[in-house]
Amino acid sequence: MEDAKLTVGKVAKRSGVNVSTLHFYEEKGLIRSWRNQGNQRRYKPEVLRRVSVIKAAQKMGVSLSEIKSAFASLPNNRTPTTEDWEVLASKWREALNERISYMEKLRDYLTGCIGCGCLSMKSCPLYNKDDQLSEVGTGPVILERLITDNNSPH
Ligand code: FES
Repeated sequence: MEDAKLTVGKVAKRSGVNVSTLHFYEEKGLIRSWRNQGNQRRYKPEVLRRVSVIKAAQKMGVSLSEIKSAFASLPNNRTPTTEDWEVLASKWREALNERISYMEKLRDYLTGCIGCGCLSMKSCPLYNKDDQLSEVGTGPVILERLITDNNSPH
């Protein structure tokens, strides 16, 4: 690939991402390199934009597998254009807002628990001893239910 001329070191320096992280991204299928005649990795300049998108998305709490799916949804697996970024970022912003809202509710319930201390299996949204509610779902089931139903435990 003729325009793949950037060394991994140069990409690392210009993107501010460690070489090992770049290799990890490549392993996960998020970026791609080509081998030169000396069998060394070379990257196209567009990899820098791809890495920027990955870093920005990760800061928004988006997982690498979600980022990979988003990239795969673009025609010919292209590097996100400005328009692509707008679409992806607004979708990820929605998810971020939902997470923020969830964390705010979690914080409010935690405040109630600090003043309570019952750690009741039946009513405490934060306590699920030995995952006894696992048959009805994983994790803090009561909390999920309260947050979804917008109820208060106190
Ligand atoms: S400690 Fe009592 S409701 Fe959580």
